[in-house]
Amino acid sequence: MPNKIYDSIRTVYFSPTGTSKQIAEAITRGIAAPANGSTVFALPGSASRLAAQAIDLTHRSEPAAVELSAETVTVIAAPVYGGRIAPVAVKRLAGIRGSGGPAVVVALYGNRAFEHAVEELAALAARQGFVPVAAAAFVGEHSYSTPATPIAAGRPDAQDLASAEAFGQEVRQKLESGDAAPIDASQLKDRRAPSLSTLRFIRFVLKYRHQQKRHPVIYLPECDAERCTHCGRCAAICPVGAILRSDETRTDPALCIRCCACVKGCPTGARTFHTPFAEALSRNFFRRKEPVTLL
Ligand SMILES: Cc1cc2nc3c(=O)[nH]c(=O)nc-3n(C[C@H](O)[C@H](O)[C@H](O)COP(=O)(O)O)c2cc1C
Ligand code: SF4
Ligand code: SF4
Repeated sequence: MPNKIYDSIRTVYFSPTGTSKQIAEAITRGIAAPANGSTVFALPGSASRLAAQAIDLTHRSEPAAVELSAETVTVIAAPVYGGRIAPVAVKRLAGIRGSGGPAVVVALYGNRAFEHAVEELAALAARQGFVPVAAAAFVGEHSYSTPATPIAAGRPDAQDLASAEAFGQEVRQKLESGDAAPIDASQLKDRRAPSLSTLRFIRFVLKYRHQQKRHPVIYLPECDAERCTHCGRCAAICPVGAILRSDETRTDPALCIRCCACVKGCPTGARTFHTPFAEALSRNFFRRKEPVTLL
């Protein structure tokens, strides 16, 4: 039986601070590498054309209603929040449906742990009508990382992007070999942090929860009104509309998901987010973790 022909690649992501987007694009570049007479990929256009086929869920308030064909290879990437796929990403992915085509599921995490996030994304993709043929967890700069409390600062770096592209090429080879079998994402194992770091972090979390029970504190991004030029950038990049244009010094605590896109995107440094997690994460998870992949 002749191999199936794939005629398009779609890159789907939710990515407030851009790391999921960067890795998804690098994997897509790997899959879309020059055809070399492939009988399996009949992709139109160049890499730039492929980039234009991205479905960016970061700023959509409603789930997009998109149905992708069985001939489309889909790369789905989203960040890990609290060991799970960011809930807003899950909600927005609900509108993306497959028709039995292959999907590559990728979780981006901030060098602590991805826990069950990749499994969750693979299960979600399967429910949405995709066949998850490959899975990966990559490290991105932690949303809470600051110069004083760096956590995976600057990642994904050139090495991560090269790994992502190489992973994309492996996905392509898998599909070219006629293998579009689903993976078991539970087989993708996290690289363990040193036990002492993990124990120290667990102790920090327990203490934090205890304190929150007794004296609850709402941690929210702050805005220094002296520094704010009301350029509106934070309101434009907030994925959930928690900042109103012309009233940028305020943040809606009910809407804010603490993604830190506004903090990282403010050109004057007016926005900051102070959370005790930043110090605890920086202290305990400074050892570099490498990406893990499963085909
Ligand atoms: C609310 C929240 C919870 C997070 N939880 C985790 C976590 O459990 N483990 C981890 O390693 N990183 C965690 N992170 C860090 C993000 O997963 C990481 O920075 C990711 O690269 C962000 O993706 P983006 O750039 O596509 O927004 C968390 C970030 C936020 C904002
Ligand atoms: S991005 Fe910064 S300077 Fe611009 S409106 Fe927001 S807080 Fe103010
Ligand atoms: S206001 Fe909250 S949700 Fe919006 S960009 Fe800032 S941290 Fe993210």
